[in-house]
Amino acid sequence: MRTPIIAGNWKMNMTLAEAVALVRELKPLVADAKCQVVVCPPYICLHAVAEEIKGTNIALGAQNIHWADKGAFTGEISAPMLKAIGVQYAIIGHSERRQYFGETDERVRDRAANALAHGIIPIICVGESLEQRENGVTDAVVTVQTVAALKDFSPADVEKVVIAYEPIWAIGTGKTATNAEANETIGVVRNAIAGVYGKELANKVRIQYGGSMNAKNASALMAMPEIDGGLIGGASLKAEDFSKVVNF
Ligand code: 13P
Repeated sequence: MRTPIIAGNWKMNMTLAEAVALVRELKPLVADAKCQVVVCPPYICLHAVAEEIKGTNIALGAQNIHWADKGAFTGEISAPMLKAIGVQYAIIGHSERRQYFGETDERVRDRAANALAHGIIPIICVGESLEQRENGVTDAVVTVQTVAALKDFSPADVEKVVIAYEPIWAIGTGKTATNAEANETIGVVRNAIAGVYGKELANKVRIQYGGSMNAKNASALMAMPEIDGGLIGGASLKAEDFSKVVNF
Protein backbone atom coordinates (compact mmCIF):
# COMPACT_ATOMS: atom_id res chain seq x y z
CA MET A 1 0.00 0.00 0.00
CA ARG A 2 1.18 3.50 -0.82
CA THR A 3 1.00 6.08 1.97
CA PRO A 4 -0.67 9.22 0.58
CA ILE A 5 1.43 12.37 0.62
CA ILE A 6 0.00 15.88 0.53
CA ALA A 7 2.43 18.74 0.10
CA GLY A 8 1.88 22.48 0.16
CA ASN A 9 3.90 24.40 -2.42
CA TRP A 10 3.91 27.93 -1.09
CA LYS A 11 5.73 29.18 -4.20
CA MET A 12 6.98 32.80 -3.83
CA ASN A 13 4.61 33.67 -1.00
CA MET A 14 5.00 34.39 2.73
CA THR A 15 7.45 36.55 4.61
CA LEU A 16 9.31 34.98 7.51
CA ALA A 17 6.74 36.08 10.07
CA GLU A 18 3.84 34.97 7.87
CA ALA A 19 5.44 31.57 7.29
CA VAL A 20 5.91 30.91 10.99
CA ALA A 21 2.37 32.05 11.76
CA LEU A 22 0.91 29.81 9.04
CA VAL A 23 2.68 26.69 10.19
CA ARG A 24 1.91 27.43 13.83
CA GLU A 25 -1.78 27.57 12.97
CA LEU A 26 -1.49 24.46 10.82
CA LYS A 27 0.13 22.15 13.39
CA PRO A 28 -2.92 21.29 15.51
CA LEU A 29 -5.21 21.17 12.47
CA VAL A 30 -3.24 18.37 10.79
CA ALA A 31 -2.04 16.51 13.89
CA ASP A 32 -4.30 13.52 13.18
CA ALA A 33 -3.64 13.32 9.44
CA LYS A 34 -3.56 9.84 7.94
CA CYS A 35 -1.24 10.97 5.17
CA GLN A 36 2.29 12.35 5.08
CA VAL A 37 2.03 16.13 5.38
CA VAL A 38 4.73 18.32 3.80
CA VAL A 39 5.11 22.09 3.61
CA CYS A 40 7.44 23.69 1.07
CA PRO A 41 8.11 27.32 2.06
CA PRO A 42 10.50 29.65 0.21
CA TYR A 43 14.18 28.98 1.03
CA ILE A 44 14.44 32.01 3.29
CA CYS A 45 11.73 30.63 5.60
CA LEU A 46 12.91 27.01 5.75
CA HIS A 47 15.02 27.26 8.88
CA ALA A 48 12.39 29.01 10.96
CA VAL A 49 9.69 26.61 9.78
CA ALA A 50 11.99 23.66 10.59
CA GLU A 51 12.25 24.91 14.17
CA GLU A 52 8.49 25.43 14.39
CA ILE A 53 7.56 21.92 13.18
CA LYS A 54 10.06 19.99 15.32
CA GLY A 55 8.33 17.03 16.96
CA THR A 56 5.22 17.28 14.76
CA ASN A 57 3.97 15.12 11.88
CA ILE A 58 4.73 17.88 9.36
CA ALA A 59 7.75 17.34 7.12
CA LEU A 60 9.77 20.06 5.45
CA GLY A 61 10.29 20.47 1.73
CA ALA A 62 12.24 22.90 -0.44
CA GLN A 63 10.98 24.21 -3.78
CA ASN A 64 14.12 23.34 -5.75
CA ILE A 65 17.59 21.89 -5.26
CA HIS A 66 20.83 22.31 -7.18
CA TRP A 67 22.55 19.43 -9.00
CA ALA A 68 25.98 20.12 -7.45
CA ASP A 69 27.00 19.91 -3.79
CA LYS A 70 28.74 23.28 -3.80
CA GLY A 71 30.64 25.68 -5.99
CA ALA A 72 30.41 28.77 -8.15
CA PHE A 73 26.65 28.89 -8.70
CA THR A 74 25.64 32.35 -7.52
CA GLY A 75 22.18 32.47 -6.03
CA GLU A 76 21.72 28.70 -5.78
CA ILE A 77 21.12 26.38 -2.83
CA SER A 78 22.55 22.86 -2.50
CA ALA A 79 21.31 19.59 -1.06
CA PRO A 80 23.86 19.50 1.79
CA MET A 81 22.74 23.01 2.87
CA LEU A 82 19.10 21.93 2.87
CA LYS A 83 19.80 18.61 4.55
CA ALA A 84 21.65 20.41 7.35
CA ILE A 85 18.53 22.33 8.35
CA GLY A 86 16.21 19.33 8.23
CA VAL A 87 14.77 19.42 4.72
CA GLN A 88 13.36 15.99 3.78
CA TYR A 89 11.69 16.68 0.42
CA ALA A 90 12.35 18.93 -2.57
CA ILE A 91 10.04 19.86 -5.43
CA ILE A 92 11.99 19.42 -8.67
CA GLY A 93 11.07 20.49 -12.19
CA HIS A 94 7.91 22.41 -11.36
CA SER A 95 6.29 23.69 -14.55
CA GLU A 96 6.90 27.27 -13.41
CA ARG A 97 10.62 26.54 -13.28
CA ARG A 98 10.49 24.82 -16.66
CA GLN A 99 8.56 27.77 -18.12
CA TYR A 100 10.30 30.78 -16.54
CA PHE A 101 13.75 29.49 -15.63
CA GLY A 102 14.69 27.25 -18.55
CA GLU A 103 14.56 24.01 -16.59
CA THR A 104 15.23 21.04 -18.87
CA ASP A 105 14.48 17.33 -18.44
CA GLU A 106 18.22 16.68 -18.04
CA ARG A 107 18.59 19.24 -15.26
CA VAL A 108 15.49 17.93 -13.54
CA ARG A 109 17.09 14.51 -13.56
CA ASP A 110 20.40 15.83 -12.20
CA ARG A 111 18.71 17.81 -9.44
CA ALA A 112 16.62 14.81 -8.39
CA ALA A 113 19.71 12.59 -8.41
CA ASN A 114 21.57 14.99 -6.13
CA ALA A 115 18.62 15.23 -3.76
CA LEU A 116 18.55 11.43 -3.48
CA ALA A 117 22.30 11.28 -2.99
CA HIS A 118 21.80 13.36 0.15
CA GLY A 119 18.75 11.53 1.45
CA ILE A 120 16.24 14.14 0.30
CA ILE A 121 13.16 12.82 -1.50
CA PRO A 122 12.49 14.59 -4.79
CA ILE A 123 8.91 15.46 -5.72
CA ILE A 124 9.37 15.46 -9.49
CA CYS A 125 6.77 17.43 -11.45
CA VAL A 126 5.51 16.44 -14.88
CA GLY A 127 2.55 17.69 -16.87
CA GLU A 128 1.27 18.88 -20.23
CA SER A 129 0.26 22.33 -21.46
CA LEU A 130 -3.26 23.07 -22.69
CA GLU A 131 -2.01 23.04 -26.28
CA GLN A 132 -0.43 19.64 -25.79
CA ARG A 133 -3.63 18.24 -24.28
CA GLU A 134 -5.67 19.64 -27.15
CA ASN A 135 -3.25 18.12 -29.64
CA GLY A 136 -3.64 14.72 -28.03
CA VAL A 137 0.00 14.37 -26.96
CA THR A 138 -0.51 14.37 -23.17
CA ASP A 139 0.48 10.73 -22.73
CA ALA A 140 3.61 11.13 -24.83
CA VAL A 141 4.63 14.31 -22.97
CA VAL A 142 4.31 12.89 -19.46
CA THR A 143 5.96 9.63 -20.52
CA VAL A 144 9.00 11.42 -21.95
CA GLN A 145 9.26 13.70 -18.88
CA THR A 146 8.97 10.79 -16.45
CA VAL A 147 11.48 8.52 -18.19
CA ALA A 148 13.95 11.41 -18.61
CA ALA A 149 13.65 12.44 -14.96
CA LEU A 150 14.51 8.94 -13.75
CA LYS A 151 17.22 8.17 -16.30
CA ASP A 152 19.88 5.81 -14.88
CA PHE A 153 18.30 5.80 -11.40
CA SER A 154 18.64 2.61 -9.39
CA PRO A 155 15.41 0.75 -8.59
CA ALA A 156 15.99 1.59 -4.90
CA ASP A 157 16.04 5.30 -5.73
CA VAL A 158 13.00 5.10 -8.01
CA GLU A 159 11.04 3.52 -5.18
CA LYS A 160 11.75 6.60 -3.03
CA VAL A 161 10.77 9.34 -5.46
CA VAL A 162 7.41 11.06 -5.52
CA ILE A 163 6.02 12.21 -8.87
CA ALA A 164 3.54 15.07 -9.10
CA TYR A 165 1.35 15.10 -12.19
CA GLU A 166 0.39 18.73 -12.68
CA PRO A 167 -1.41 19.63 -15.91
CA ILE A 168 -0.17 23.17 -16.55
CA TRP A 169 -3.62 24.36 -17.61
CA ALA A 170 -4.97 23.44 -14.17
CA ILE A 171 -2.37 25.33 -12.13
CA GLY A 172 -3.70 28.45 -10.47
CA THR A 173 -6.62 28.59 -12.89
CA GLY A 174 -9.37 27.10 -10.75
CA LYS A 175 -9.72 24.51 -13.55
CA THR A 176 -9.10 21.06 -12.11
CA ALA A 177 -8.59 18.03 -14.27
CA THR A 178 -11.61 15.79 -13.84
CA ASN A 179 -11.06 12.93 -11.44
CA ALA A 180 -11.02 10.56 -14.40
CA GLU A 181 -8.53 12.66 -16.40
CA ALA A 182 -6.18 12.95 -13.43
CA ASN A 183 -6.45 9.26 -12.66
CA GLU A 184 -5.91 8.23 -16.26
CA THR A 185 -2.82 10.35 -16.83
CA ILE A 186 -1.32 9.29 -13.51
CA GLY A 187 -1.84 5.75 -14.77
CA VAL A 188 0.16 6.72 -17.85
CA VAL A 189 2.97 8.02 -15.63
CA ARG A 190 2.92 4.76 -13.69
CA ASN A 191 3.06 2.77 -16.93
CA ALA A 192 6.07 4.82 -18.02
CA ILE A 193 7.86 3.81 -14.82
CA ALA A 194 6.73 0.20 -15.29
CA GLY A 195 8.14 0.23 -18.83
CA VAL A 196 11.64 0.77 -17.44
CA TYR A 197 11.50 -0.72 -13.94
CA GLY A 198 8.64 -3.23 -14.07
CA LYS A 199 5.12 -3.19 -12.73
CA GLU A 200 5.93 -4.25 -9.20
CA LEU A 201 8.24 -1.30 -8.59
CA ALA A 202 5.95 1.14 -10.42
CA ASN A 203 3.13 0.14 -8.11
CA LYS A 204 5.19 1.30 -5.13
CA VAL A 205 5.84 4.83 -6.43
CA ARG A 206 3.64 7.57 -5.06
CA ILE A 207 2.16 9.86 -7.68
CA GLN A 208 0.37 13.04 -6.68
CA TYR A 209 -2.09 15.19 -8.55
CA GLY A 210 -1.60 18.97 -8.58
CA GLY A 211 -3.57 21.83 -10.12
CA SER A 212 -6.33 23.74 -8.34
CA MET A 213 -6.76 20.96 -5.78
CA ASN A 214 -8.62 22.33 -2.79
CA ALA A 215 -10.82 21.59 0.21
CA LYS A 216 -13.81 20.94 -2.03
CA ASN A 217 -12.36 18.55 -4.60
CA ALA A 218 -9.67 16.77 -2.55
CA SER A 219 -11.69 13.85 -1.27
CA ALA A 220 -13.01 12.89 -4.72
CA LEU A 221 -9.54 13.12 -6.25
CA MET A 222 -8.02 11.14 -3.39
CA ALA A 223 -10.64 8.42 -3.85
CA MET A 224 -9.26 7.63 -7.32
CA PRO A 225 -7.11 4.49 -7.29
CA GLU A 226 -4.03 5.93 -9.02
CA ILE A 227 -3.89 9.20 -7.07
CA ASP A 228 -1.62 9.01 -4.03
CA GLY A 229 -1.72 12.58 -2.85
CA GLY A 230 -1.66 16.20 -3.89
CA LEU A 231 0.72 19.06 -4.56
CA ILE A 232 -1.23 22.08 -3.44
CA GLY A 233 -0.51 25.69 -4.42
CA GLY A 234 -3.07 28.36 -3.60
CA ALA A 235 -5.02 26.26 -1.10
CA SER A 236 -1.87 25.62 0.95
CA LEU A 237 -1.52 29.30 1.90
CA LYS A 238 -4.33 29.24 4.46
CA ALA A 239 -4.05 26.80 7.36
CA GLU A 240 -7.71 25.95 7.42
CA ASP A 241 -7.94 25.30 3.67
CA PHE A 242 -4.79 23.19 3.61
CA SER A 243 -5.86 21.19 6.67
CA LYS A 244 -9.12 20.32 4.91
CA VAL A 245 -7.17 18.93 1.97
CA VAL A 246 -4.86 17.02 4.29
CA ASN A 247 -7.79 15.59 6.22
CA PHE A 248 -9.60 14.62 3.02
P1 13P B 1 -2.57 25.60 -7.50
O1 13P B 1 -3.01 24.62 -6.44
O2 13P B 1 -2.53 27.01 -7.01
O3 13P B 1 -3.29 25.41 -8.78
O4 13P B 1 -1.02 25.24 -7.80
C1 13P B 1 -0.70 23.94 -8.06
C2 13P B 1 0.78 23.83 -8.09
O5 13P B 1 1.42 24.32 -8.98
C3 13P B 1 1.43 23.14 -6.98
O6 13P B 1 2.77 22.92 -7.25
